Amino acid sequence: MNIAVFASGRGSNFTAIIQAAKKGKLKGNLALLICDNHQAGAISRAKRAKIKVAEILREDFASKAEFENKIIRTLKDYKIDLIVLAGFMRLLSPDFVRLYQGRIMNIHPSILPAFKGGHAIQDAFDYGVKVTGVTVHFVDELMDHGPVILQETVKIEEKDTREKLEAKIHKLEHKLYPEAIALFLGKKLRISKRKVKLSTR
Ligand code: GRF
Repeated sequence: MNIAVFASGRGSNFTAIIQAAKKGKLKGNLALLICDNHQAGAISRAKRAKIKVAEILREDFASKAEFENKIIRTLKDYKIDLIVLAGFMRLLSPDFVRLYQGRIMNIHPSILPAFKGGHAIQDAFDYGVKVTGVTVHFVDELMDHGPVILQETVKIEEKDTREKLEAKIHKLEHKLYPEAIALFLGKKLRISKRKVKLSTR
């Protein structure tokens, strides 16, 4: 199976996925990075790992539909089976999501449905919750929404600073995302009534 990772920024999750692939933990081919930001750290990480990069910028297209059509053509060229969003800062349109239904994953740094949006770690910290965590889910038409694949919690201790919490969350993300991708590649995930069932076969 061919995998495309979509990223807009730093790319630490992308790096964790590359490392899992190198260790033989992912029975698939990391075929492509799609990036919508020329400055993204993910681009140099891809180049170092000899993964093809398609830089597709929203501002180069007159409409979101044209931007997404370019992405879709690129995904077809590379015969992509699975899309992995790793810090991709754009909401995909319902048409796009329908086209790849059940084949787009996202990672979010909270226990969804709590703390959606771009500041989930800060928001959980500021709220004073004692437990937060990480969610990997299939993507539907809504932001940070869709059938949950894996979720694990992180405790927020009184002594934790926001930075310490961020480090704990990212460490867990880097473990959980490759696990979820491996489950997909191993055909262990089935969606039924908007819930993900894990098969043990
Ligand atoms: C991660 O915290 C992920 O959960 C969120 O965006 C961040 C991306 O970080 N969706 P990185 O670019 O993978 O380092």
